Amino acid sequence: MSEFIICQSRAEMAEDLASLQRLCFPNVSEQELITASQYRAHIERFPEGQLAVLRADGSLAAGSTSCLCHIDLAHYQHSYMEASGQNWLHNHDPCGDWLYGVDIGVHPRERGQGLSKLIYDARKALVRRLGIKGILVGGMLKGYSSYRATMPAQEYLAAVQRQEIFDPTVSVQLRRGFQVHGFLPHYIDDPTIDGAAALLMWRNDAVPI
Ligand SMILES: CC(C)(COP(=O)(O)OP(=O)(O)OC[C@H]1O[C@@H](n2cnc3c(N)ncnc32)[C@H](O)[C@@H]1OP(=O)(O)O)[C@@H](O)C(=O)NCCC(=O)NCCS
Repeated sequence: MSEFIICQSRAEMAEDLASLQRLCFPNVSEQELITASQYRAHIERFPEGQLAVLRADGSLAAGSTSCLCHIDLAHYQHSYMEASGQNWLHNHDPCGDWLYGVDIGVHPRERGQGLSKLIYDARKALVRRLGIKGILVGGMLKGYSSYRATMPAQEYLAAVQRQEIFDPTVSVQLRRGFQVHGFLPHYIDDPTIDGAAALLMWRNDAVPI
């Protein structure tokens, strides 16, 4: 791991962050992918929430976006575009009591080396520093594309929760201490997974909900 460093994203990384997104989300519609201008806006709006992992040569290996929000956990249905303020973080509320993980992507070459763990640990540290309730993410059911013909997405999620199926995103998030709060049937414009995601939650035990 020592060959990677994690830092706040900087405006000059915006083009690379946008290219990385396109590599990480090849089936998400163009309108829902974050552009370089939007990455620059995130850095201006909430710099502490924007993270990058760099290789030893300074190039970008991973990136992530987050914002602060309020959420009614009893009425949690939302889409990615709502959660991301139409990808501009318009909805970022500096007084928000949850950190919302809008985006996380690791370059395909560097997957499985703990880079997302670095990012999740940094997000958890930020939550503790801010004294807020925890982290919410819409975890895309990336592996559902191979099961679409055999079961509904919600059934697939239940099998992932029981650890009968390994999902390349949600299983990783479960390993990082997240729990499933609910099912988001219309989260994202990705027809290969019918747009489905899980709302995942990591709690800061120091702060009551
Ligand atoms: C999801 C993603 C961010 C994970 O990043 P990563 O850096 O590869 O993840 P890490 O290396 O930190 O962790 C992978 C974990 O999965 C585990 N894992 C990987 N393959 C596994 C398998 N087949 N069975 C069981 N566990 C497995 C690893 O052991 C590791 O867990 P551990 O550290 O507790 O041992 C990355 O795959 C990615 O960028 N995907 C495309 C974009 C995306 O889907 N983003 C999420 C949108 S919600």
